[in-house]
Amino acid sequence: MATTMALSPYRNSLVISLRLLLVLEWVIFLSFHWSFGYAELQTFHHPLKPDGSISFLVIGDWGRKGYYNQSEVAQQMGRKGEEMNIDFVVSTGDNFYDNGLKDINDPNFQESFTNVYTAKSLQKPWFNVLGNHDYRGDVKAQLNPILRKTDSRWLCLRSFILNTEVADLFFVDTTPFVEEYFTSPDGQFYDWRDILPRQYYIANLLKDLELALARSTSTLKIVIGHHAIRSIAHHGDTIELIHMLLPMLQDNNVDFYINGHDHSLEQISCMGSPMQFFTSGGGSEAWRGDEKGLGDNKCAVNFFYDGQGFMSTQISSTNAKFVFYNVNGETLHSWNRSKLFHSSF
Ligand SMILES: *[C@@H]1O[C@H](CO)[C@@H](O)[C@H](O)[C@H]1NC(C)=O
Ligand SMILES: *[C@@H]1O[C@H](CO)[C@@H](O)[C@H](O)[C@H]1NC(C)=O
Repeated sequence: MATTMALSPYRNSLVISLRLLLVLEWVIFLSFHWSFGYAELQTFHHPLKPDGSISFLVIGDWGRKGYYNQSEVAQQMGRKGEEMNIDFVVSTGDNFYDNGLKDINDPNFQESFTNVYTAKSLQKPWFNVLGNHDYRGDVKAQLNPILRKTDSRWLCLRSFILNTEVADLFFVDTTPFVEEYFTSPDGQFYDWRDILPRQYYIANLLKDLELALARSTSTLKIVIGHHAIRSIAHHGDTIELIHMLLPMLQDNNVDFYINGHDHSLEQISCMGSPMQFFTSGGGSEAWRGDEKGLGDNKCAVNFFYDGQGFMSTQISSTNAKFVFYNVNGETLHSWNRSKLFHSSF
């Protein structure tokens, strides 16, 4: 009896500490689960036109208060948008220069978006990803749904899916993949809230994307990010994406990868894979004039334009067509892939 009495306080505190440890483990586990967890990517749906197709414009690297031909490009987008009766607009990021939005009340939002893309045909949903310049401001401002009160077209998430009956579009947040922004930010501020630790963020994003790609039953899969996988312009290939993202896209039969970042218009394809790489980053400042060679000799440039412009995409159940336009709305390059002539897209 005496022995039990003596042991009991010790045993009790041991039990309590063990319980505390268990609770602590759960707290850690759950917080990882919530912040880096198996979140399914948010999915939006867009209906087909009565003829069974969808069409949209793709613009990147644009928000400069109308300067550097941004307004001229916007005007031609309005014309093409009208002609094609577009369903929505896709932005490949770098939405607001130089440093994203300061906060949700930043007048740059209206000056570079609402007041520039004024054509009637462009009053459609805008599906936006973030570019590296967007990360230099208050990233959460661009992600804040409150912006839709200012302009109802605006939709920006880090990564998400747009589901249509003829194609699935996967929007991917590529900025956190680029090592240089973390290791040598060159005096620039980056808003990494919710991104750190970076390895967890990337691992979970890739896991979520892989799951979504594998689940997709669409005959056509399009992935959209800010950074190029393949490019011959100023920034060139993004090595991190070639290593971490490209194999997953190929394994899951992704048909097209679309990006901005380089202020140019490009189409590149590589031997041994039907995937096409499209760059549409000509929304405003362009003409860098420093074309590079291809990073991989198995790849070939189908089209390259160093100036301003945009891209249109039309998809039906039998054909996917891409057209590039310059600042005057003239067609620079047109390419299509027909399901009738291929076993698959
Ligand atoms: C605007 O576009 C025209 C036609 O391509 C070009 O000559 C001019 O340099 C562009 N302006 C700027 C600031 O890029
Ligand atoms: C697709 O491209 C081929 C040439 O490659 C062309 O003959 C055909 O008319 C194009 N189809 C469409 C729908 O644009």
